[in-house]
Parts: sequence; C-alpha cells; structure tokens
Amino acid sequence: MGHLDWDDGYRLGIPAIDAEHERLVARLDLFLDASMHDHLDAELSRLLADLIDATRAHFLHEEDMLDRAGYEDLPAHRAEHDRLLADLGHYEMACAAGEVPRKLSIETADYLRHWLLDHIRTADRQYLPFLRRLT
Ligand SMILES: [Fe+2]
Ligand SMILES: [Fe+2]
Repeated sequence: MGHLDWDDGYRLGIPAIDAEHERLVARLDLFLDASMHDHLDAELSRLLADLIDATRAHFLHEEDMLDRAGYEDLPAHRAEHDRLLADLGHYEMACAAGEVPRKLSIETADYLRHWLLDHIRTADRQYLPFLRRLT
C-alpha cells in the first residue's frame, strides 16, 4: 500500500535529480508503510538506515551539482540538508536504543513526508535556473 505517490508536481525536469527524488520518495514510502504495520523493530531500523543512506547520497550529489553551477544560495540549501540529516541521526539513535520505535517511526515518517516533499517542491525548485546552465 502506498502512502506517497510520486507525481509530476515533484518533477524538476532534471532526469538525474528526478530519478533520485523518486527513489527517495519510494524509500520513504516503504518506511512509512512499515511504521504503520506490525513490522519488527529491526526491519524498521533497516528501512530507516536505507533511507538515510539514500538521502545522504542524494544531498551530496545535489550539492556537488549546485557547487559546479555556482549556485549562490548553496550555503542555505546545504544547511537545510544538514538539518534533515541531523534529525534523521537523532531518530536513528532513538530507534537503535529501542525507544518506542513504532510510535517514533510514525512520527518520523510523518515529519519526513512533509519535510522531504516540501523541500523538493520549494527549495529544490529554486535552483533550477542555475542547474540548467550545466546542461
Ligand atoms: Fe533534492
Ligand atoms: Fe535539496
């Protein structure tokens, strides 16, 4: 069951970035789905770790592209990425410590859903004119 559906409203028109965003949304959906059902804590932790790895890789890739494009707002954009990664790290530690993982996971997924989709629709969209210079 999908809670999150990728749709063209999230598409930026840069194939490499769109593909990564789509994968992130799919991983987030898996995590969200697992957090709503009776999955084992270890499974939730694994899905969260997958999501964190994919998010970190995407952010690094995006920041590298923005750096090469001379994006003037890169420091602020990177700071927003860093904030999410720091939050994910806190959730990961709480999961590892076995602190009410199911409740935490639902809250985490809800938070992430808003943050990730809002970030793609707003902050990521702002860099489009700069990235198009690369292509
Ligand atoms: Fe992005
Ligand atoms: Fe971004």
